[in-house]
Amino acid sequence: MVLQETTFNLEQLLRWYLEVGVDEMIGEQPLDHYTNDSTFLTPVTEVNKIVTKQTNNNSSTQLATASKTLESLKMAIESYDGCKLKNTCRNLVFASGNPKADLMLIGEAPGAEEDIQGIPFVGASGRLLECILKSIRLHRKDVYITNLIPWRPPGNCKPDLITIELCLPFIIRHIELVTPRIIVFLGGTSANALLYKHDAISKMRGKWYNYKSTGLINSIVAMPTYHPSYLLRTPQHKRETWHDFLSIRKKLDNLDN
Ligand code: URA
Repeated sequence: MVLQETTFNLEQLLRWYLEVGVDEMIGEQPLDHYTNDSTFLTPVTEVNKIVTKQTNNNSSTQLATASKTLESLKMAIESYDGCKLKNTCRNLVFASGNPKADLMLIGEAPGAEEDIQGIPFVGASGRLLECILKSIRLHRKDVYITNLIPWRPPGNCKPDLITIELCLPFIIRHIELVTPRIIVFLGGTSANALLYKHDAISKMRGKWYNYKSTGLINSIVAMPTYHPSYLLRTPQHKRETWHDFLSIRKKLDNLDN
């Protein structure tokens, strides 16, 4: 298609984009993935430089630390302008369910449906998650659900290292304010970020870890398992997930009050 030869008005241009499958914006600036400066390839040293540059009162660490309730944490995240995802998403996706629940589930980042509704796990993977919960006699109102990243990455791409580093203080504080008895990491991204590991989810899943942070008096038992959207693509892993959730049910049943 030779664009220069056609005179488009804005509406025609948007229609043309839709027809050729360009149905969402995935960034503010064009990104050339063939050059070396792609943010997806940013080395850790660069990430640290970018993150530590944010030393003013509005850094995610300072905003998170100053939040003493879930409501104030939500407002702090809403006020934070350091993460570029905020410019392309529709809504902040904070959490859903019971903040007093024993079990807290942490996914990766909102998808399209979650972005529209502002609620985590309400799309296809959320429906599968509800079935998984039901299989161990739980409803989503019995658990607390949130994500590592509170804004939708455009095009549902995997959050890059900088985004994860910038958002980490918020989820760490979120866990401290909820103080669940058990944490389940849905997928490798949240498990690796919060357990400070670089392991494959196939290696981590089904095992119990001790999750710790400076604002927690006691560590919290935590299990990584496969992400429901991964299970939608590779249903043969549902069997292992079933085992993981049986183990989670057992842990819940054995909690002393
Ligand atoms: N995937 C996630 O990790 N979180 C959601 O909220 C939805 C899909």
